[in-house]
Amino acid sequence: MKQIGVLISGRGSNLQAIIDAGLPVAVVISNDPSAFGLERAKKHNIPAVIINHKDYKDKNTYELEIVKVLQKHKVDLVCLAGYMRIVGEVLLQNYPNKILNIHPALLPSFPGLHSQKQALAHGVKISGCTVHFVDEGCDTGPIIMQAAVPVVENDTEETLSARILEQEHIIYPQAIKLVCEGRIKNEKKV
Ligand code: GAR
Repeated sequence: MKQIGVLISGRGSNLQAIIDAGLPVAVVISNDPSAFGLERAKKHNIPAVIINHKDYKDKNTYELEIVKVLQKHKVDLVCLAGYMRIVGEVLLQNYPNKILNIHPALLPSFPGLHSQKQALAHGVKISGCTVHFVDEGCDTGPIIMQAAVPVVENDTEETLSARILEQEHIIYPQAIKLVCEGRIKNEKKV
């Protein structure tokens, strides 16, 4: 089984879903020292490492440190789980086609930040979530799995986000498993 490294910035409920699915998480890295996901990792005796982007002079140096920690833990697949930084060239070159992300919208609709708010503002009746391979764009890489979620009358950003999150917790571990088992590959040239 491939070793997984999870990158987070906050709450870490997707990290929890990955752990609960029994996937082999070798290390959790957060750019935010106050991320609750770090506590989740520690509770499961998974190494929890803080690499604060603010401590580095530029993105390359910051990402080199991430790569160093991932390599130390023999990670072959990187999963972004609420990681709120754009992935740069150092991570992409060291893990080509080996970085996954979960996004709270049906891509290519509503990439970037506040996707649920964007969905409500557009009045869509169906939204959802997407697991995709990460490339150099913002939420643009090849799609692995999606789940549709209805938008209901009087939905707020919070209620819609919570409904989408339930589906994120289902499809992210499923998609990671498929990639780990080699049943899905991204053969796009990097
Ligand atoms: C999730 O909804 C995830 O899809 C989203 O942040 C939340 C993190 O929650 N990610 C993005 O918006 C990435 N652009 P979590 O920390 O509880 O997993």
